Amino acid sequence: MCGIVGYVGPNSSIDVLLRGLSRLEYRGYDSAGVAVIGTDAHLRTRKHAGKLKVLLDELKASPIQDGQTGIGHTRWATHGGPTDGNAHPHLGDAGKLALIHNGIIENFASLKEELLLDGETFTSETDSEVVAIMAGRAYRETGDLTRAMREVVARLEGAFTLLIVHEDRPGEVVGARRNSPLVIGLGDGENFLGSDVAAFVEFTRRAVEIGQDQIVTIRPDSVEVTDFDGNPVETREYEIAWDASASEKGGWSSFMRKEISEEPDAVANTLRGRVHEGEVLLPELGVLDDAVLASLDRIVIIGCGTAAYAGMLGTYAIESWARIPVEVELSHEFRYRNPVINERTLVVSISQSGETMDTLMAVKYARGEGARTLSICNTQGSSIPRESEAVLYTHAGPEVAVASTKAFVAQVTALYLLGLHLASVRGTLSADEITASINELLAIPGKLADVLIASADIGQLAGWMADTRSVLFLGRNVGFPVALEGALKLKELAYIHAEGFAAGELKHGPIALIEPGQIVFVIVPSPRDPNSLHPKVVSNIQEIRARGARVIAIAEKGDAAVLPFADEVIPIPLAAPMFEPLLAVVPLHIFALELATAKGLDVDQPRNLAKSVTVE
Ligand code: AGP
Repeated sequence: MCGIVGYVGPNSSIDVLLRGLSRLEYRGYDSAGVAVIGTDAHLRTRKHAGKLKVLLDELKASPIQDGQTGIGHTRWATHGGPTDGNAHPHLGDAGKLALIHNGIIENFASLKEELLLDGETFTSETDSEVVAIMAGRAYRETGDLTRAMREVVARLEGAFTLLIVHEDRPGEVVGARRNSPLVIGLGDGENFLGSDVAAFVEFTRRAVEIGQDQIVTIRPDSVEVTDFDGNPVETREYEIAWDASASEKGGWSSFMRKEISEEPDAVANTLRGRVHEGEVLLPELGVLDDAVLASLDRIVIIGCGTAAYAGMLGTYAIESWARIPVEVELSHEFRYRNPVINERTLVVSISQSGETMDTLMAVKYARGEGARTLSICNTQGSSIPRESEAVLYTHAGPEVAVASTKAFVAQVTALYLLGLHLASVRGTLSADEITASINELLAIPGKLADVLIASADIGQLAGWMADTRSVLFLGRNVGFPVALEGALKLKELAYIHAEGFAAGELKHGPIALIEPGQIVFVIVPSPRDPNSLHPKVVSNIQEIRARGARVIAIAEKGDAAVLPFADEVIPIPLAAPMFEPLLAVVPLHIFALELATAKGLDVDQPRNLAKSVTVE
């Protein structure tokens, strides 16, 4: 997620902006920049790909005129790779206006087309520059920065936090937000704007939230907030509860806890701009056009660890919806087993980092064998997308904790979008069936938010189990990958033996592991499951309870059949069976986090592990 800072006041804006941006580094980014109205009333910008230090060194080597009005930005690339040219701020009105942006402008292509036809030129690949040009034109027409912002936001679709400054308006920063955070910091003779309070908490603890579809104009001695039509709105001031040191993680105790809390947004942002009026829109597939997709006779999904488990869910969904054979393989196994693949095989690689060497080498191998290649990745411009013919980016935002959480739900979301698109292209689902599944996906972020609330006491459950030495996870059909993911999280974080099994496999050996007190999580299928696997899994629970297991069931809210047989039941909201894994996985992420926390372990940097395994 991008970091945003704005400042007006008597002090050096460069100093305030850079200190604010450094507090936002935890959000993850790949370029940084500032725009300042100098005391000579000229606007100057400096921006660079890379970390904030690159920008700092550049400003030290060749300083720019400082002033008391400025905006600063750290960019997490979405449209356009992490380059100097794509870094923010972007300029309008012949370089007199600067803009920074966090979010995704869904209709930027049509807006850009309009501007190009009207003679405008662009220097970047970003959606943000389109808005900067629009803002410059609007300012030239209105001569008023706030009105210019009003005109611009009226034409935008998607998610955005915007800040603009203009050299004709020193002492003024105008911001706007829709589906993306922006907060005001109130100072004494100075005011601040930030993507979160970390941007200014070292200068002031007084903050004001800005609501949806609102515009704010800050000056050193005034703050005005209106709706998008210019009507003043009520605001509420509050005291920031934590200090600058906690701001490293936006107030969260760990990146992992922060990233689990972002799982609803990870799904929402991955869907954003890709579903419209009952259709899936994936223009990013590029050369993998409908003809190519219709010609495929097989799909192989490759990945490692959590990414592979997301891929497993993709196999269930895509094969069921698009009626094409789909299998998932661990990248490092696929690469060396001499698989039969050709131009009618689509190899889909899943990777949060886009740098996992096992997966990168497998993609290179697949291309060498003539297969079509698509990557699903969370990191713009990384190696695996560059090696693939096309990429579907998951917009989960930077995932800093080694244990992957929000990337998993985003990867599954992207795979489900791919499956529905394939079903549409291949005519294997009706328009109504596709619409119904899209609606299920659109409902997931809200249901995930409910799961987060309902999982509040998992910490207590984990505390009781802090000394356990072994936990098993059972799941069936789409619950099986969830069981594997839950086991992996526990291994990674709590360093205890954990194993996931297909529930149907229990009687073929694993049940010998069951002894009194053995903790077993069971992901229970929906009682509405068309395969009617629910009674089979309830029988599994009875079998292991009869042998002394302690059963924690993840079950659909209201599933009364489970209650008599489980020691604990963690309810999840109702969803169509294929979509329940997106909900069932979150309590397992939380359980692993809480058990590791109870053991006093480092949940962000577990021992022996790296966030991206860049060696084979
Ligand atoms: C997941 O929690 C682990 N950190 C690990 O299994 C990870 O999913 C795997 O290394 C793949 O990483 P990638 O998604 O960046 O390719």
